[in-house]
Amino acid sequence: MSKSIAGAALVAASLMLAVGNAGAAKPKAPPKETPVTRGEVLARENCGTCHAIGIKGDSPNAKAPPFRTLSKRYKLENLEEALAEGIVVGHGDAGMPHFIFEPDDISDLIAYLKRINK
Ligand code: HEC
Repeated sequence: MSKSIAGAALVAASLMLAVGNAGAAKPKAPPKETPVTRGEVLARENCGTCHAIGIKGDSPNAKAPPFRTLSKRYKLENLEEALAEGIVVGHGDAGMPHFIFEPDDISDLIAYLKRINK
């Protein structure tokens, strides 16, 4: 019996352990949730089917302005108010849906918009 066989067994055992746990594995340092990261998720999930929500790329719906250009037409603070009141911004035949957000969601979304509108 050599040390290396015992070592190999140990390695195999820990590999099995690792595989067994894989489903439950958590990232060691999960990215911290911030208003900006939450806003990005909101934008992607609610708006991303039509608007380009990132710092580059074209909108899937050519009529929908990319979010990174919104500050050229709007004060983002006004947009915050409009969204809070459920006013449909940029409505038109194109069929921008009517969203009603919670105040927290709106400030997250605006935080994200401020990040990408430089
Ligand atoms: C189904 C497609 C669609 C979705 C989803 C969508 N939009 Fe739009 N949005 C549009 C279109 C198309 C326009 C341009 C309408 C126009 O010019 O009349 C627009 C315009 C806008 C404008 C105004 C731009 C301007 O200059 O007038 C804002 C602000 C806006 N969208 C924000 C949002 C936000 C925030 C979300 C997600 C919560 C969202 N949109 C989701 C299609 C969409």
